[in-house]
Order: sequence, then structure tokens, then C-alpha cells
Amino acid sequence: RRQMLTALFGAAVLTLPMAGCGHQPVQDEPGAELILRYAENQPEDYPTTQAALAFADLVAQRTNGRVKVLVYSGGELGAEQSVIQQMQFGGIDFSRVSLSQLAEYEPALSVLQLPYLYTDADQMWRVLDGTIGDEFLSMLESLELTGLSWFDAGVRSIYTRQKVTGLADLQGLTIRVQESDMMSEMITDLGAKPVKVVYSKVYAALHNGEIDGAENNWPSYEAMGHYEVAPYFLKDEHTRVPEVQLASPMVMEKLAELGESYPEIIRMCARESAKVERKLWAQQEAESEENMRAVGIEVTELDEAEKEKFCAAVQPMYDLFAEQSGLIARIQQA
Ligand code: GCU
Repeated sequence: RRQMLTALFGAAVLTLPMAGCGHQPVQDEPGAELILRYAENQPEDYPTTQAALAFADLVAQRTNGRVKVLVYSGGELGAEQSVIQQMQFGGIDFSRVSLSQLAEYEPALSVLQLPYLYTDADQMWRVLDGTIGDEFLSMLESLELTGLSWFDAGVRSIYTRQKVTGLADLQGLTIRVQESDMMSEMITDLGAKPVKVVYSKVYAALHNGEIDGAENNWPSYEAMGHYEVAPYFLKDEHTRVPEVQLASPMVMEKLAELGESYPEIIRMCARESAKVERKLWAQQEAESEENMRAVGIEVTELDEAEKEKFCAAVQPMYDLFAEQSGLIARIQQA
């Protein structure tokens, strides 16, 4: 809507108040020559959104105000799948999405989100910050997307409406997954029934009992209020799904026309904002877990034997990636 108005009436219209929009207020900025849209499906105070705002600030600074990035949070520009498609056609300029959503278009990406692949966050970062991470970002070009940087999204666990304390209790339960075949496969291997539900509808689905549970990281569990309707948290930590900050290749071209150095400036700002995100993430992940325990969520920790059962159950997923076993070994040795 804003882009259309801008095209019709020029920058002056940007001073109009936009009631109810989840992005930062727009000041009258006569210098902005390119106004770009950034899609984020998390709320305003969430680490990824805060990093998006940091990205927007950096871009404004480094282009002397010639490029302005407007961050639309809370899924205002659509759910992740629709955002990805819009980006491929240049309808949205930037976004941050979960890798599981991109892997729907390029299954080879899924290797980075195999269950129990990394021992901890540090190991994942050694992979993503190294050549493997760069190779995977470049791979996105074949999807008509430009991969800018990696964001942290912590580790995901299962939570349920009724008490669940181990693999045996999960059998036959309906568990929400992202719109992802890989995630469906994983839940099936764990003996439960996967149901694909878009992120913004998970609360309602839990509330109405359409599903018995879902799986996500601590900050999402807290921020989306899922804990109110699914107060049993099974800390199985089954997977780390990294996230990607993206640009539309079309906007990268537009930026190059405006300033030869601008595409590289954008990449730098993205990498810097990713550092901001990683720091905020670590704080938020710990804080959300603490908050959830404080409000009385019942957390089940897995002992070694139970954890082994979870690992064994998802082993068939590694067989699916047998052709990439060399890469898996490189990841695990990182
Ligand atoms: C995480 C991720 C979101 C994603 C969500 C989901 O919260 O940050 O981008 O949409 O998981 O489970 O759908």
C-alpha cells in the first residue's frame, strides 16, 4: 500500500500517519530515493525484528539516507511462504525467514536442519560462519533469492496441551509443524501425526484442540502465548533451524543502479545486523526459558536414555540424506 502511494504521490505522502501498522514511524525524509520493504513475522520486540530495525538504521546511515528500509513486523506482509514468493517477483525487498520454509523449494538446504545434527549453538555457528554457510547462502540464487546472512533461532522442543514426559507419550498425538515436509517427516518418525499450520494460527489451533501440541523455541513459545494453551514443555531439543536474512535479487539490481557500492553495503549491514540478532537471541532464549518456568510451565528434561530414544527414532532422516553423508560428516566435525 505504501509503495503504491509513494509511486503515485511522491515522498511527501510518507508523513501521513499509518494507524495500526507494526513498523517504525516514518519521518519526512526528503533524501530517501529508494524506499524498501522488509518482512518479518515476529512481533516488534522479538530479537529478529530488533535486528531488522538495526539493519534499517545501518542502511540509512551508510547510504546517507538515500535508501530507507521499512520493517513490517508481526507478519503484516504475509506468512513466510507467501513472503518468499513475493520476494522472487520483487514484491517484497527484504525478509528474514526460517530455513525450513526455503528448504521447501530446495530440499538440499534441509541438511542444515537435520534433527540432532549439531551438539550445540557454537557448533552450528562454526558451520554457518564457515565455508559451508557461505555455500548454502549462494545456493539461494537458484531460487531467485539473495541470501545475506544467518540468524539464530535456537533449539526447538515439543510442547503439549496434556502432559507428555517422553517418546512413548507422543505416539499418535497430533503435533503442529511448519509448512515443511522435512518437519512432517521428523514428527512422523517420532510416532506422532504432523499437521501443517501457519505460525499465526498455531495459538488458535492449540486453543481449540485441533492439535495436541506444537514445537518451537523458547522465545516463540513465550511471544506467541502458546504456553497459555500448551503448558507442558518436553525439552527434547530435537532440532536447530537456522534462519536467513534475504534480499530480492531485483532490489539488489536497483541498489546497484543507485550506487555501485550499495549491494556490498547492504551485505555488510546484513552481516552486522546478524551479529546484533545473535547477541539478542542468546539473551532472549535464556530469559524466555526463565520466564516460562516462573509462570509455572511444567518442563520435562530428558535423561540420557530417553534422549537416545529420540535420536534413534529420527535416524531414518539421515538415510534420506545418504548422498550428502560427506557434508554431514563435515558439519559434525566442525
Ligand atoms: C520460529 C521462526 C518463525 C517461524 C516459526 C514457525 O518462530 O522464527 O519464522 O515462522 O518458528 O514455527 O512457524
